[in-house]
Amino acid sequence: MYVSILGRQPALGIAELERVFGGGNVTPLSSLAATIDTPLLDIRNLGGTLKAGKVVIDLPSGDWSKVNQKVIQYYADQWASYEGKITLGVSSYGFDVSSREVQKIGITLKQKLKKTGVSLRVVPNSEPALSTATSHHNKLGLSANKVELLIILARNGRIVVAESTGGQNISAYAKRDQERPKRDAFVGMLPPKLAQIMINLAHPDAGARILDPFCGTGVILQEASLMGYRVYGTDLVDKMISFSRDNLEWLSRTHRVDVRSDLHSGDAMTTKWQSPIDAVVAETYLGQPFSAPPSMPKLEEVRKNCNHIITEFLKNLSSQITSGTPVCIAVPAWRSVDGSFTHLPFITTITQLGYKPHEFHNVSQNDLLYYREDQIVARELLVLVRQ
Ligand SMILES: C[S@@+](CC[C@H](N)C(=O)[O-])C[C@H]1O[C@@H](n2cnc3c(N)ncnc32)[C@H](O)[C@@H]1O
Repeated sequence: MYVSILGRQPALGIAELERVFGGGNVTPLSSLAATIDTPLLDIRNLGGTLKAGKVVIDLPSGDWSKVNQKVIQYYADQWASYEGKITLGVSSYGFDVSSREVQKIGITLKQKLKKTGVSLRVVPNSEPALSTATSHHNKLGLSANKVELLIILARNGRIVVAESTGGQNISAYAKRDQERPKRDAFVGMLPPKLAQIMINLAHPDAGARILDPFCGTGVILQEASLMGYRVYGTDLVDKMISFSRDNLEWLSRTHRVDVRSDLHSGDAMTTKWQSPIDAVVAETYLGQPFSAPPSMPKLEEVRKNCNHIITEFLKNLSSQITSGTPVCIAVPAWRSVDGSFTHLPFITTITQLGYKPHEFHNVSQNDLLYYREDQIVARELLVLVRQ
């Protein structure tokens, strides 16, 4: 069994895990973590998981001092005759403990192991949980002698200890996000992690051909190519097609990936796409960006316009894809000062357009919103299947 330490918007991480591993195999422990019943979990393609780990201790109940003792006993035995140097980081999630108390586990183990001649380096904690950057820079979880323990207290009192199998590769994400030759602040910058989440939410079969009819600078096409999919991008604006082409050419050169792509301009409301279309993943038109909440009439105008474009797109698409084709789209939802959201009207009548929403075990549609605290326009993720 594995654990996932969830990202900033945990519901998105849970939804992603449910689609990839099956809803019945994912159990949320708290808003910070979940267990996944699977023999193998590869974090590289999971945008919503910060760290993954293999469960080593699972207690139905207990407290910090009990788990402390268990962990120290377990690893003092495990490493008693280890040859070579071990680096250890400890992260706690959900416990009311200080960084010092967490680090004490490593220090106690270091003292015990010293007596048997084993050398242990403890990664210092400035927080009860090591940041993804610290775990990444120390290469924790990536080899047998660089270990990070993830100690998690679940909402129901269960305690799970897992050995990290790696954290998110933040430098690889930053490179893919910032070193692409063509970026465009106006069409927006879809973070590569969110693109991965969206591709996983559609959950296409291996090697499938994915259509993005609002491809812009091509972030979804890029991430899908890295995940081994064939990609097909269209966009209303010719310049965007040339941006996507340049970015995919850069990807194939710098990441040694075999990009299999088709690109051409076209209006998503009327284009006739070339088959096959095995899955559709797109960040649709989000309307104009706002830095402050718009007036009601302005919001209504933008909302109506986006609703029209996306509804016409979905109608056009439904006549061109076969029953069962998965679709994951990001559409705009606007945040008001009180934190509530104004949604697009078509969402409540999506079945009339020929699509069935995917039902998650632990997540509802209202949870599938991606935004930063300073953003007015959130991205609402719709996970659909053509009926
Ligand atoms: C939010 S951006 C998508 C950005 C994209 N995810 C990326 O990686 O850059 C929306 C895109 O939709 C395009 N667009 C707007 N209206 C469209 C339409 N009717 N048909 C097709 N594309 C459209 C815009 O040109 C823009 O590139």
